[in-house]
Amino acid sequence: MSMPAAFYIGLTLFWATFSGTDGYFEQRVTQCRYSSKDLVDIEYIDSYVFNKVEDIRFNSTVGKYVGYTEHGVKNADAWNKGPELVQELGNLERVCKSNAALHYSAVLDKTVEPQVRLSSVTPPSGRHPAMLMCSAYDFYPKQISVTWLRDGHEVKSDVTSTEELANGDWYYQIHSHLEYTPRSGEKISCMVEHISLTEPMMKHWDPSLPEVERNKIAIGASGLVLGAILALAGLIYYKKKSSVLYSTWKE
Ligand SMILES: *[C@@H]1O[C@H](CO)[C@@H](O)[C@H](O)[C@H]1NC(C)=O
Repeated sequence: MSMPAAFYIGLTLFWATFSGTDGYFEQRVTQCRYSSKDLVDIEYIDSYVFNKVEDIRFNSTVGKYVGYTEHGVKNADAWNKGPELVQELGNLERVCKSNAALHYSAVLDKTVEPQVRLSSVTPPSGRHPAMLMCSAYDFYPKQISVTWLRDGHEVKSDVTSTEELANGDWYYQIHSHLEYTPRSGEKISCMVEHISLTEPMMKHWDPSLPEVERNKIAIGASGLVLGAILALAGLIYYKKKSSVLYSTWKE
């Protein structure tokens, strides 16, 4: 399973000035990029963005400011000769390395295992009459692998997947689809691999009705039986009552 590991801890500062309906928007984004705990490839990035265009970036690996616009090139040249550069050169150590242990213990070392659900969905009108969706919810970190197995062999064709989607609460979800033509006696499974799991998680497809559908049928059937009993009780009561009335009438 491929697990490209790159973690970004970022800090964003915004300045905005507005004149009428037009606005000028200045943004500064500083990042510590951690790729391994030994901090070998650690990188400090400081970007200056004006109206969504990045005009200057300091990259600790490069070791100086680089300008990307005419204005940015001019400023980068000036800052590279001044106290700004000295300050930036110290930030890798001061900001990123000194806080690394904290970021790892608070966030980067944490893992949360996915909740996996396998369901049948309507296929798009295509080559196959059936489609399954394997969804993994609420996992962390982002890197995950979802694969399909048919009788134990990996299926690569007719598989589509979303990206890992950020919930916005640190957790991620992903949905993988398999379009297929059912064969009798086959076994289709979805396999999920994630750093939080000691072994791959397997979900096997059960072509009988899913639990929700079974529950709906059970509730409907119970309602029908209950209704029938009540109707019968009502009928008996009515019969009894009317026969009592009838007999009273006769006397
Ligand atoms: C920083 O510079 C190095 C060396 O040129 C490059 O490999 C890396 O991608 C740069 N990082 C960013 C975020 O621009």
